[in-house]
Amino acid sequence: MFKHKDLLGLKDVTAEEITEILDVADEMKKYLCGSERKSDLLKGKTLVTLFYENSTRTRTSFELAGKLLGASEVNISVATSSVQKGETLIDTGETLDAMKIDFIAIRHPMAGAPKLLAEHVKASVLNGGDGMHEHPTQALLDMLTIREKLGKIAGLKVAILGDIKHSRVAMSNLIGLKKLGAEVYFYAPATMVPKDIEKLGAKIAKSREEAIDGADAVMGLRIQLERQNGGLFPSLSEYSRFYGVNDALLKYAKKGAIVLHPGPVNRGVELTPQVIDGDKSVILEQVTGGVAVRMALLKLLAEYRENCL
Ligand code: CP
Repeated sequence: MFKHKDLLGLKDVTAEEITEILDVADEMKKYLCGSERKSDLLKGKTLVTLFYENSTRTRTSFELAGKLLGASEVNISVATSSVQKGETLIDTGETLDAMKIDFIAIRHPMAGAPKLLAEHVKASVLNGGDGMHEHPTQALLDMLTIREKLGKIAGLKVAILGDIKHSRVAMSNLIGLKKLGAEVYFYAPATMVPKDIEKLGAKIAKSREEAIDGADAVMGLRIQLERQNGGLFPSLSEYSRFYGVNDALLKYAKKGAIVLHPGPVNRGVELTPQVIDGDKSVILEQVTGGVAVRMALLKLLAEYRENCL
């Protein structure tokens, strides 16, 4: 059984718990894609989304996940909240807690902010991405998509290309995929490969061809211009030429390989438009899986709250 008050990162979660989340998400996806979408599983519960950074997929899918399971959902717009008057994260959290809410989904530019919040609130905290640290629900939806499309995760080769250094998605995927028995290959400009990442089990490829050779899944990562100080690569067009993924490179991948991207995509930079819209792409299936994964997590956290708190 999933034994956590919060979901802060995949570092804290066992392989068995990841598998449990994915199994519940499979069920949630059937419900999400079915015609009967009425559930009162979370009736009377309240979810707050508290996003200090922009988001389309993560915030919307948390909101939908709560609503589809019968919870009440409130979005706090940080731009118009008392955060702008200088209220601290802890004070904001304690204020929300006093309103007797059950779940807070948070995105924050500082690594560790969800953990700090979780230590000060009774509500369950779900990390929707913290700085360059972790984005656990993204990695879970990536693993859900890989497992659904390829039937398993153990033994697969997953190639991840792009801005590894600034990517919380890369970090959570590395941790989660390794726990489930996959091999993870990274390829990026040397300026975008974090020091000592091999100690966490990543393999660093010397070329795009080496990374993609025999890969079962190829993931492009967004170039995060907002987290860079500049100068990490000469220009977007050169990045695309030397580090992007195109159809010619995908010929090195295994037959039946899939292409993922967490989004938002810089079209023509990390992946060519032909790859994004091509038959190997599962990018929109990832988005659907994102709602299912967040539904699964709300269900499992609600059960933990009911039974263990
Ligand atoms: N993948 C992801 O986190 O997308 P958003 O920034 O749109 O939430």
